[in-house]
Amino acid sequence: MSVTAPRAPSCLLHDAGTCRSCPHLSLPLPDQLAVKQSHVTSLLAERIPAGLWEEPAASAPERFRNKAKMAVAGTTARPTLGILDGAGHGVDLPTCPLHVPAIEAALPVLADLVTDLGLLPYDVPGRRGELKHVLVTASPDDDLMVRFVLRSRRHLGRLRAALPDLQRSLPQLAVAGVNIQGVHQAVIEGPEEIVLTEEDRLLMRLSLPSPGTGPSAGRRADDVELPLYLPTRSFFQTNTAVAEALYATARAWGEESDPALVWDLFCGVGGFALALAAPGRRVLGVEVSAPAIDGARDAAALMGLEPALVRFEAGDARLLDPAAPADGATGAIGATGAVGAEAPDLLVVNPPRRGIGERLATRIEASGVERVLYSSCNPRTLAADLTHLSSMRVVRARLFDMFPHTDHAEVLVELVRA
Ligand SMILES: C[S@@+](CC[C@H](N)C(=O)[O-])C[C@H]1O[C@@H](n2cnc3c(N)ncnc32)[C@H](O)[C@@H]1O
Repeated sequence: MSVTAPRAPSCLLHDAGTCRSCPHLSLPLPDQLAVKQSHVTSLLAERIPAGLWEEPAASAPERFRNKAKMAVAGTTARPTLGILDGAGHGVDLPTCPLHVPAIEAALPVLADLVTDLGLLPYDVPGRRGELKHVLVTASPDDDLMVRFVLRSRRHLGRLRAALPDLQRSLPQLAVAGVNIQGVHQAVIEGPEEIVLTEEDRLLMRLSLPSPGTGPSAGRRADDVELPLYLPTRSFFQTNTAVAEALYATARAWGEESDPALVWDLFCGVGGFALALAAPGRRVLGVEVSAPAIDGARDAAALMGLEPALVRFEAGDARLLDPAAPADGATGAIGATGAVGAEAPDLLVVNPPRRGIGERLATRIEASGVERVLYSSCNPRTLAADLTHLSSMRVVRARLFDMFPHTDHAEVLVELVRA
């Protein structure tokens, strides 16, 4: 039987050179993945011999993005939801082939709302207008979180009043909110968030193969659910299916040593920690975002996990010392007390692009922690961090294609004390 390679998605804006978000779109996905694997392998060759790499986790070629960050421009009568060109003018992107169908279906409804409510799109060159971005996240059940990034509170009342109509047009709308970003051309989101709906977070019901069956392609009847609560302004892996493969792989690798105590640093809404939770096992997740921690705690409760065993604490993971006593130098996360008094048997780290950094790496190195799973979204900082973990050796590694059509590579590495 011949196996056909997944078809490359067609995108007129890519072909015209208007949108450059997917530089490798024209290359078949298996070829892209081979190039990515070879690039990552050579970048990490000093610490990870070629034979230790497992089969990469491939993505679907299209319809994999669970979130859309649409810049709003144009006019109230004819808004564009998409990207900005070099001059700061809007380019409409109603049919990006990467978005999951629920997002694609929502975008025209949201564009109509801009017109119906008379919302003035923000004009970057002229520094005028109010609506800067529309941010949409879709859950695996197609429920939606929609957030409007406004320059000020001026249009807030209109959006609030329009909510019942919007919920009728978009029955899957679970969470709607407004984010205020008053600064010109700064980071997309500002610090102030106003949730308009009763629900203030999206339930992301992921699906993992049942323990012991190993990672699988596609969903199966005996999969187990991993329910995660995503509040506004919190991180979530962009490609739901690849995130499931990542958590399933971490769980499968972690389970092999049956750790009694697991730490998940930079835990976000708790994906690794909750995937690794098991009867009698103690788990601690640490994350700087308090709303993400609230979500992780509630997801643990939803899973019926005992709060005394599975704990989440807000704090700076870089200050944690896996070797310190409970009330020692880890004061920044005082509440880690009962769990933090001993080094974990398994330490999971999944830092932002900057990596864990020399200080935390050096503490892990000195701590006596026997086993580390490092999930990295930046192989360069991973390579730098590995140089500070010199008494640990990599035993296996796997590439996850979280962002097909780009150079972005997500890598999971298992280290054990040499
Ligand atoms: C790549 S995300 C990983 C999140 C989570 N592990 C997951 O799978 O969704 C990195 C996370 O680190 C958090 N973070 C950034 N700096 C931090 C710090 N100094 N201490 C703790 N968490 C931090 C971010 O808020 C973000 O949630």
